Amino acid sequence: MKQIVFVCLGNICRSVMAECIMKDLLEKEKIVINVLSAGTSGAHNGEDMHYKTKAKLKEKGVRVISFVSKKLSQNMCDESDFIITMDNSNYKTVLQNYKNVSHKLKKICEFAKELNYKEVPDPWYSGDFEETYNILSLACRNLLKELKGC
Ligand code: 4NP
Repeated sequence: MKQIVFVCLGNICRSVMAECIMKDLLEKEKIVINVLSAGTSGAHNGEDMHYKTKAKLKEKGVRVISFVSKKLSQNMCDESDFIITMDNSNYKTVLQNYKNVSHKLKKICEFAKELNYKEVPDPWYSGDFEETYNILSLACRNLLKELKGC
């Protein structure tokens, strides 16, 4: 396992929150895996994460990384061992628009089955960053357990 990329639509709310949570967990366990995040739209390219994403991470004691929003590239897909999407729309977009991804493409809710979500609701629309954090925090902890078992 060398690299994981988390993917959402805008790469300012969900996927970057997952990136920060996962990096924090890996650092605490002294495990070296490259983690990044990207969006399928590119609409926020060059921007920092959403201020409410940052505030939620700080509230939860997760280290906030220095960050720039970016669109998912074929190169990121090629270099990643896991491409982990936040919702069904992201999943379909990646499958349709990028080559050689199907074997490594995942939905993050597969790693948080206890919570019975099929997708991570988009806090850009819901405003509920606590819900986002709760799903992503559990999913990242379960993902880490799986990675340690590899
Ligand atoms: P994200 O949330 O995909 O979790 O980063 C969104 C951010 C921005 C937009 C949509 C979703 N937008 O339409 O600009």
